[in-house]
Amino acid sequence: MIICRTITELKEQIGLLRKKEKSIGFVPTMGYLHEGHASLLRYSAEDNDATVLSIFVNPLQFGPNEDLDRYPRDEKRDLALAEECGTDIVFMPSVQEMYPAKPLTTVIVNQVTDRLCGASRPGHFDGVGTVVSKLFHLVQPDKAYFGMKDAQQVAVIQQMVNDLNFPVDIIPCPIVREPDGLALSSRNVYLNAEQRQQAVVLSQTLEKASDWLKEPGMTVERLLARVKVQIDKAAETAIDYAELLYYPSLQPPAANAPINTLNQPLILALAVKFGATRLIDNRLLHANEVNVHVQNDDEVKAAPGNRY
Ligand code: PAF
Repeated sequence: MIICRTITELKEQIGLLRKKEKSIGFVPTMGYLHEGHASLLRYSAEDNDATVLSIFVNPLQFGPNEDLDRYPRDEKRDLALAEECGTDIVFMPSVQEMYPAKPLTTVIVNQVTDRLCGASRPGHFDGVGTVVSKLFHLVQPDKAYFGMKDAQQVAVIQQMVNDLNFPVDIIPCPIVREPDGLALSSRNVYLNAEQRQQAVVLSQTLEKASDWLKEPGMTVERLLARVKVQIDKAAETAIDYAELLYYPSLQPPAANAPINTLNQPLILALAVKFGATRLIDNRLLHANEVNVHVQNDDEVKAAPGNRY
């Protein structure tokens, strides 16, 4: 496994792969890798001749009062896990290397960023779009792998790739969960024991909601009201958002629409604070007149990125 800390080193390695006509899979991360990242690296290693991992805590995507300074880091453990998962190249630049000066060019994706994390973290997706487009130019991947825990991020990046003709396939990959259902996240490390127990309310609520929405006459507003009551039952939580939206457009259906009349894929997306730690989770759903189908993990993985 080759470690590149500079853009020059990375370009040299990518040049060698391109010369040999090797296909490149890319997994962009902010480090503190967990099994969710490991699954992306394994998918990439399976599908491509070479896998590039980037580890870069991107300051552009953090708001002034967010956790940039305390974002967890563990380089040694990350490198060991990356190697175990078949990574060929790790790109670990410094902030100075990525942004020698404040960038005057920003990639802004409209509309899909209006709600959810786009609304509660202003500027976040401008930072994501900007860094991911820089990384795509540097790594020149054939395929790039993203976890569906950040479903809005997947929609934003797919939109950017479509609009700007990046020659890369976006591969959305299933959410990886703890045995009790909590979605893996680098931020889970911030939770104390009590909050860790409470955090399971996210996946439990998504599970319950996928049954509730099958009830005859269930509407968007009734479902969301029930979801909120369920989350509020867990002590010390503050709901940032609980929304049912079309996916991947992330536009809302009418609040009084019966869910079984909505003929497009939907996402139920949650963001909840446990103390100072804000966690997100979601579930993709497909509703139509006949039934409501909850997408399973194999279907998420099987869905080619460019289907969006
Ligand atoms: O999902 C993440 O870890 C980050 O948003 C990403 C895609 C690596 C961009 O910094």
